This record gives sequence, structure tokens and C-alpha cells, in this order.
Amino acid sequence: MRIGNVTIAHPITLAPMEEHTNYPFRLMMKQFGASLVCGERLDASDVAARDKRAMRLLMTQPSERPAVGQISSSDPHEISEAAKVVEQAGFSIVDLNFECPIKRLVQRGEGGALMAHPQKIATLVEAAVKAVDIPVTLKIRSGPDADRETAPEVARLAEAAGAAAVDVHARSVAQSYVGGPDWSVVARVKQAVSIPVLGSGGVRVPEDAIRFLKETSADGVAIGRGCLGNPWIFLHARSLVQGGPSLAQPTPNERARALLQLVEGEFEFYGSHLALKRLARTSCYFAKFAPDFDLFKTKIHKVRSLVDFRFLVKEHFR
Ligand SMILES: Cc1cc2nc3c(=O)[nH]c(=O)nc-3n(C[C@H](O)[C@H](O)[C@H](O)COP(=O)(O)O)c2cc1C
Repeated sequence: MRIGNVTIAHPITLAPMEEHTNYPFRLMMKQFGASLVCGERLDASDVAARDKRAMRLLMTQPSERPAVGQISSSDPHEISEAAKVVEQAGFSIVDLNFECPIKRLVQRGEGGALMAHPQKIATLVEAAVKAVDIPVTLKIRSGPDADRETAPEVARLAEAAGAAAVDVHARSVAQSYVGGPDWSVVARVKQAVSIPVLGSGGVRVPEDAIRFLKETSADGVAIGRGCLGNPWIFLHARSLVQGGPSLAQPTPNERARALLQLVEGEFEFYGSHLALKRLARTSCYFAKFAPDFDLFKTKIHKVRSLVDFRFLVKEHFR
């Protein structure tokens, strides 16, 4: 697949996830076979103002390319200024978020709120396209709610405004993350446009990714919650999509090594204070696959340093 001038090696990609898809996480998913990785949604106002937190989250390196930086706003000027910063930061693609269901954002008329206003989305896409040389893509939902499926119309208008690809989360904004996705909307978007279509929703095991691609005819599938604690899903899905065999589950030792790599990356990225705060959540996604998960959960809260953590992992992932 090609998104503008960017070649994507295969259809198995990483979905953006707030509080998860930071630089060390993305790099690891890339190493585990994701063809395209995406950073979390950032307020375009923060990005345009080069706010410290936003700039840390916009940290990228050539090793993770092709990589996507994602922003949201309902203001064309803010969108174009932020898109320029994403381009300067080194991202291969800038993605506009029209899917986020978070109340704070929706009340401001941003993110998912814009799924009720397709023409406004087209104006924002056009502003970003004019501002940068890298491809501009958009992430959308099926529509504002179950009764209004605006995704095909939004995709068509965005394509006309210069979008290079569209990524559909197959749930409505009103649905948030509750309930099953309806993949058929991705198929309808695919029929509506000629730019590449990616989609996400409910992919938990490698076989789901293959079924998603087959049932929707999408050019790519983005894996969200299915990769938390389980980066192997990318290797396994890639093998299946390329006609290879089903791969064996990782050993406890392999799980321990991956967890250590991620946590060490987070210590470097965030510094020990913030990394320690995030530690229980990050590691429990991995530890839930190990025996004695309950014991691990109790002990992880007592960890005060990377040395303690290495010891705990050694003890648990035998
Ligand atoms: C914790 C969490 C954070 C998310 N943050 C973002 C985000 O920042 N930007 C975005 O476009 N989508 C975000 N999403 C949506 C995912 O990219 C993806 O579309 C969705 O999770 C797919 O559904 P699945 O998790 O059922 O596979 C988030 C999802 C989760 C679970």
C-alpha cells in the first residue's frame, strides 16, 4: 500500500492509543512487525504552541519510520500550524483525529463531534494539505451514532480535499469503546473512495486481522487493544497475511525480555519518576499472561526502581 509518497510494507499496522503509543512503545511494535505506527492524539493548540508535553510525545526517530503523528482541532489555522510542527518533528504522515469520543473534546466540538459535520472535516483536511508536504490522513468513526453513518460521505469529501488515506474505527462516536464493532462500515467506506482505507475495531488475535481484511477489503488493519502486552500479534498476523504458518506463542522468557525492553525504554523516555508511575499498568498487560498474576500485581506496587523491577520480572517470568 502507498499513502501519498509513503510505502507501507504490509497491511498490519498499529492503532494510535492515548497513554500507550509513545516512542518506546511504537519502536517495539515496529520491531515486532507493525508496518506503520501512530502516536497518540495531541491537541493541535498544544502542538502549535510547542508545549513541552506535546513535544515529548512528538519525539520520533528514523528507526520507527514510517510513523504517523496525530492531531485534533476544529480550527483550520490551528490544524495547519500543528501539521507543520508534526512534519518538522520528522513524522512521515500527519493524521487528523475526527474519532475521539472523550466528552471534554466532543463538548469543544472537536474529535468525534465533527463526524456530524462532514463539510467542516473537509475544510480542516484542506487546511492541513495546504500546510505540509507530507501526506495528510484522517481517522474517523462510522458516524456520530448508530442512526447516522456519515463515514462514507466524510471519506469522499476528505479525498476530494486531498487526504491520502482514511482510517475507520468501526464504532460510532456515541458507542465510545462499548460493544462490538461493525466492520461492514469499513467495506462501505472502501467502496466510496479510491485512496487507501484502513480500519480498526475488535482485533484481538491474529486471525481477526485476516478476517477483517477479507470481510472489508480494506488496504490495512490497525491493531489497538489487541497488542497491549502482546506485541507478537503483529508478527503472527503478518505471517498469516503473507501466507505463512501460524506461529508459536512466546515463551515466558520472551515475554520477560519484551516487557523489560518496553519498561527500560519508558525510563529513558519519561525519566524514572513518571516511568515508575506508569509501571504497574504497563507491566500488568504483559504479566496477565504469566502465572501468579495476582501476586505480581501486589508486588509491582512496591517497586521503587528499575533494579527492583528487573528482579521482580526475573522472579515471575520463569
Ligand atoms: C486506551 C485507548 C486510547 C486510544 N487513543 C486514541 C488516540 O489517541 N487516537 C485515535 O485515533 N484513536 C485512539 N484510540 C482508538 C484506537 O486507535 C482504535 O481505533 C480502537 O481502539 C480500535 O478498537 P480495538 O481496541 O477494539 O481494536 C484509542 C483506543 C484506546 C483503547
